[in-house]
Amino acid sequence: MFTNATEGNVPVVLVVNGPNLNLLGQREPEVYGHTTLQHINRELGEFAESHGIELRFFQSNSEGGLIDFIQQNAPDADAMIINPGAYSHYSYALRDAIAGVGIRAVEVHLSNIAGREEWRRLSVTAGVCIGQISGFGSAGYRMALEFLLDQDKDH
Ligand code: DQA
Repeated sequence: MFTNATEGNVPVVLVVNGPNLNLLGQREPEVYGHTTLQHINRELGEFAESHGIELRFFQSNSEGGLIDFIQQNAPDADAMIINPGAYSHYSYALRDAIAGVGIRAVEVHLSNIAGREEWRRLSVTAGVCIGQISGFGSAGYRMALEFLLDQDKDH
């Protein structure tokens, strides 16, 4: 699955977070926990490094910013872990961007969106991802990376 990782090159995985995820740690901690995005990214980065993977982190509060990053970075990346935040529920533009660049993507949500408000239960972006990990807090990001690594071993 790490198709872009030509011999000698380290596989690259994009880690993309959407609106308000920069507020993790202070934002509704009863829903999203106390861990900051910086902390999540640091731990994920250490895990990735020990497995020989390079992560490219990006967070934006704007739809266009997310789409531009995905378009610009996907061509030399192997996979993407994405938490689109509230854009999951209504951004057809972000969905089209994920589908359009054609790299494998795993969608992550810290909270269990299936058990929340009706409007949060639908993700319009999940359908163009391999699958969705939802409800496991910050561990979801590591689970996504472990899945991508396992897939790599299978091929
Ligand atoms: C979220 C769930 C979304 O509904 C919400 O808008 C977010 C965070 C999550 O990680 O649980 O911003 O994506």
